[in-house]
Amino acid sequence: MLKFMTGIQSNGIPHIGNIINIILPTISYINNNNNKNIFFFIMIADLHSLTNYSYPVILKKNIYINAAVWLSFNIKYNYKNVYFYRQSDIKEINELFWYLNCFYPFNRLKLSHCIKKNNTTNKTYNTGIMNYPILMASDILLYDIDKVIIGIDQKQHIEITRKIANIINKKINKNIFNIPKSLIIKKKIIPGIDGVKMSKSLNNIINIFENKDILEKQVMSIKTTNKSIYNISYKEIKNTVLLKIYKLITNKDEYKYIIEKIKNFNIGFYNIKKKLFNYILYRFSKERKKFIYYLNKKKLIKKILLKGFVKSKVYANKKINFIKKEIGLKI
Ligand code: TRP
Repeated sequence: MLKFMTGIQSNGIPHIGNIINIILPTISYINNNNNKNIFFFIMIADLHSLTNYSYPVILKKNIYINAAVWLSFNIKYNYKNVYFYRQSDIKEINELFWYLNCFYPFNRLKLSHCIKKNNTTNKTYNTGIMNYPILMASDILLYDIDKVIIGIDQKQHIEITRKIANIINKKINKNIFNIPKSLIIKKKIIPGIDGVKMSKSLNNIINIFENKDILEKQVMSIKTTNKSIYNISYKEIKNTVLLKIYKLITNKDEYKYIIEKIKNFNIGFYNIKKKLFNYILYRFSKERKKFIYYLNKKKLIKKILLKGFVKSKVYANKKINFIKKEIGLKI
């Protein structure tokens, strides 16, 4: 039996980077896997979203939004081998979090990239941000996950997870934790509309679930160059953020088609953006509709997540009791 896990922090609508790197590959893994001996743990990481807190209503809204996004992509939550749940429902995650904290060297954690990044960009970051990777380790180690589906930016978190598991296994001289591996399906980081890595906090995202006007604005403001497309080399055109995003979002045929047009001096940046915008609307039209449908069905979402909780807590409860016993907390 193999266990896969993935999760998305629920601090807004998952952007196109999350969709291409995480959601689409996970969905197709589940759908193409006839082998029901592979289990999938799909988590809405609402505890992680607390590191970036604004208001109670927003936190709540974002939980529904993230569930609706997975559901709009048709996550098969009813499959026996699929566990679709919300992180904060599983109290054992928080419990394990404390245990893990006490085994990972502080000086090492300080070197992690989430700290380095925040040290330079955000002087008032909270302790949760520093402990973010430890919480992620709790998500993973609690379920003895084998493979964690992540974007390349999360790789260090998995290394930290492996390290903690090894430290504890060694310390108590028993393999109480499985050592997980990262599964990075898409090796490319999706650039944001300004060319820097796409991220909600940088305000540079393309959000396929936004209303048409906002989505169009996002696409139309993708960075190109100051010069006209007819005055720069083909190589320069291909290296613009716009063409990079175009390639990552569209399929091979669509990309080829646009490249031909560029080579024939038949299209400018403005119309490439218009084409990209229309492509996104067309490709995700079903999902956009379903997203609205689910957002209006909060009770249904609650029911689905409750089912996921009931399913997931059994393993979590057993595992935490086992861990407590092994580390010496049971008397
Ligand atoms: N940190 C991930 C993100 O940025 C979300 C996440 C939380 C996660 N826990 C996880 C991913 C466990 C994989 C496994 O969205």
